[in-house]
Amino acid sequence: MEIIIQASAQAATEIASRTIAHVLRRKPNAVLGLATGSTPVQLYKLLIDMNLDWRQVSTFNLDEYVGLPKAHPQSYHSFMWANLFKHINIDPQNVHIPDGNAPDMALHCLAYEQKIRQAGGIDLQVLGIGTDGHIGFNEPSSSLGSRTRIKTLTRQTRQDNARFFGNEDQVPSHVITMGIGTIMDARQHVLLAFGPHKARAVALTVEGPITAMVPASILQMHPDTRVYLDPEAAAQLQ
Ligand code: F6R
Repeated sequence: MEIIIQASAQAATEIASRTIAHVLRRKPNAVLGLATGSTPVQLYKLLIDMNLDWRQVSTFNLDEYVGLPKAHPQSYHSFMWANLFKHINIDPQNVHIPDGNAPDMALHCLAYEQKIRQAGGIDLQVLGIGTDGHIGFNEPSSSLGSRTRIKTLTRQTRQDNARFFGNEDQVPSHVITMGIGTIMDARQHVLLAFGPHKARAVALTVEGPITAMVPASILQMHPDTRVYLDPEAAAQLQ
């Protein structure tokens, strides 16, 4: 793991955006894994401003809420189109986001894995991290070898995400998420974590033992994971 601590979230995000731009310039048909949530919003703004050529790029999002209509303002489908896709020249056919309303979820999850493989695998995966150490929506105790599947959100994550929905009860209880094994197959990871509320999860991920109770800690085993932090998120590192 390479840990990059910058003076501000903005500075860290700028460096991360250059890493992604470099991949897209070197490989015009790159396959990107994308995340949602508050953390990557600024990253996507910077990528939009770079005027990169996305025509041949394929994307696979990490996760989606189960049962939320695609058009719901808090669906990850809506998030991705509002914050990135509608501003770039990506081919909509190359955009992949799990379908939280698929009639056969098990089949849909298998097909999602297959599409990633058919695209040649993920070149670079963007990651945020939950305050409980989740990546994607692989909550504590997720199998470290897991693949795309349905997961139940923890109380902590529903509380964390209540800010997007008004209150915790409105946050869907289930999600589809790429598995930890799926995420580990990506060739490169860019993980962003900002703010004091991420400090504990970051310290456990980077310096703690590898454990399913801190799913992000498995990234210690990956040959190319870069973790971009502001001083607040880095505060509990030794
Ligand atoms: C979202 C995702 C989650 C978030 C994490 C942090 O696609 O995969 O793991 O990255 O919950 O969310 P924020 O950035 O809102 O703190």
